[in-house]
Amino acid sequence: TILTLDFGSQYTHLISRRLRELNIYSEMLPCTQNISELEFTPKGIILSGGPYSVYDNDAPHVDPAIFELGIPILGICYGLQEIAWHQDIKNVQAGTKREYGPAQVQAKRHHGHVDKLFKDIEDNLDVYMSHGDKLYGLPAEFHTVATTSNSPYAGITHESKQIYGIQFHPEVTHTPQGIKLLENFAVGICGAKQNWTMEKFCDLEVEKIRALVGEKGQVLGAVSGGVDSSVCAALMHKAIGERFHAVLVDNGCMRMNECAEVKVALEKNLGINLTVVDASDLFLDKLAGVVNDPEKKRKIMGNTFIEVFEKEALRIEEAAANSPKAGKIEWFLQGTLYPDVIESISFKGPSATIKTHHNVGGLTDKMKNGQGLKLIEPLRELFKDEARELGRQLGLPAELVGRHPFPGPGISIRVVGEVTRERVEIARKADFIFIEEIRKAGLYDQISQAYAALLVVNAVGVQGDKRVHAPVIALRAVKTTDFMTADVFDFSRKFTQTIASRIMNEVDGISRVFYDETPKPPGTIEME
Ligand code: XMP
Repeated sequence: TILTLDFGSQYTHLISRRLRELNIYSEMLPCTQNISELEFTPKGIILSGGPYSVYDNDAPHVDPAIFELGIPILGICYGLQEIAWHQDIKNVQAGTKREYGPAQVQAKRHHGHVDKLFKDIEDNLDVYMSHGDKLYGLPAEFHTVATTSNSPYAGITHESKQIYGIQFHPEVTHTPQGIKLLENFAVGICGAKQNWTMEKFCDLEVEKIRALVGEKGQVLGAVSGGVDSSVCAALMHKAIGERFHAVLVDNGCMRMNECAEVKVALEKNLGINLTVVDASDLFLDKLAGVVNDPEKKRKIMGNTFIEVFEKEALRIEEAAANSPKAGKIEWFLQGTLYPDVIESISFKGPSATIKTHHNVGGLTDKMKNGQGLKLIEPLRELFKDEARELGRQLGLPAELVGRHPFPGPGISIRVVGEVTRERVEIARKADFIFIEEIRKAGLYDQISQAYAALLVVNAVGVQGDKRVHAPVIALRAVKTTDFMTADVFDFSRKFTQTIASRIMNEVDGISRVFYDETPKPPGTIEME
C-alpha cells in the first residue's frame, strides 16, 4: 500500500488514479492523520499538494512521526514545502513569481548519476507547475536532484533517508512522464507490489459496504439506465443482495426501450430487486404547455422525480419493515463519481466513501426512522472509465457500460418547444435510428454523446406528391473529454445522408433532417 496524505489539492485524487493505473493499491487519508493510529504499514507515503502556504497560521501539517518511520516519502508541491518546513522553515519563501503551467525539468547528477526517482526520464522532462511558494535553499542534509530554469530546487532528496520532494505535479496529464516518476517512487524506491486490479477493488468495496450497512441494514437507490447508477446497483446487489432496493422511474422521456433494457440487465440477468414505476403520464401532463423555458422543464422533471420516488420509497420501507430478516432502510445509494465531487475532500473532511445527513428531496424527513437516510457513494473515488471497468467486472452488458451519458430530464430537453407525447415519440424514434446507424458503423465509442432532437420550426416538404408542413429533426454528435467544451463529430457526408434518408422514411411527422455543426462553446451539448 502507498499512503497518500491529502492537503486538499485539486489533483490529489489523480495521484490515486495514477497508482491504480500502475496496479498499485493506495489509500488516501487526510493530512492530519495520526500516524500511530494507522491500521496498516504503508510501503511509502506521498504528501499531496495543497492550496495553503506553509507560513499560514492555519496551514495544515503532517504528524512529524512520519519522518521517523523509515518509510520512503515523496512530497509533491506543498508536500515538498512541508518537508522543508519540518526540517528547517527558513528555506521556504513566498515566491516572488508565481509559477503556473508548463516547465522543463532537468535531472541533476549527484556523484555522477541521476537519482533513482528520475531513472529513464532524466532529460528535459516536461512538467506542470502550479505553486506560489518555493524553496530558496536546501534544508540541512538534503541535496538537489532536479532543477528548472525558475526553480533551482525543483527536486530534492535527503542524503541518507529516502525522503523526496518535488515542486511539480507528476500526477497530471500535462506531465506526460509523471507516471514513470510515480512508478520509480512507488515500485523502485518503496518496493510496492503491482498486483492491484479492479477485481480487488470490487471485493474490497463489497467488504466495506457490508461492514457499513451491517447484517440487516437495507439500502435504497434510484437507477436511470445510465452507467453510474447501474454499476452502483450491481455492486450493492453483490454486497447485500435482496436488501438493496432499486427504483427506476419512467419519466416518459426515456430513450427507446430503455426501461425494458434496464429491467433485463439488472432484474433478469443480475437478480437485482428492481421496481419500475411508470409515471410517464404524470410527467408528461405536467410538462404540457411549457414553452420557451428549458429551466422550467428541468424543475418539473426534477421535482416530479422526487415526488414519485419518495412515494415509492415510503411504500418499500413499509413493506421492508415487516421483513423478519432485515432492518430499516437507513441508506441511500448514489452513483457519484469523482469528477462529480465538486469540492475536493479537504484535510478536515470525512472519509471518502460516506457522507451522512444528505437530504434526498424531503425523503429523509418522511422516512419513519426519523433520523434520515445516510448517503453511500461507493464510486466516489473513481473516474468514468474506471466505473465502466467495474461494471464489466460485475457482469453488466457492454452496451450498458459503454453508454453515452444521458441527462436526467431526458428527451424533454431535446424536444425544443412544447413537450407532448407525439413530439417525444418522434424524437425518440429518430434518436433510435441515429444511434443504431452509429453503432453499425462502429463509431459509437469514438463519439462522446450523440442524439436526435426535435425542433420547433415547421418546414415545408413534399412527400408522396403531397405538400407537408412539419417540424425538423436536428442530429447532434460531439467529442469531448470533460463535457465543458466539445467538438462536433466529423461524419462523412455519405453517412449523414444515409441517416437522413432512414429517418425521413421511417419516422412520420417531420419534414427535414439537419446536422448541428456548432461546437461548445458557443453552443451547449444539449439543445435546451
Ligand atoms: P450542456 O448542454 O450543458 O451539457 O453542454 C453538458 C453535459 O451535461 C448533461 N446535461 C445534463 N445532465 N441534467 C443532467 O443530468 C440536466 O439538466 C443536464 N443538462 C445537460 C449533458 O447531457 C452533457 O453530457
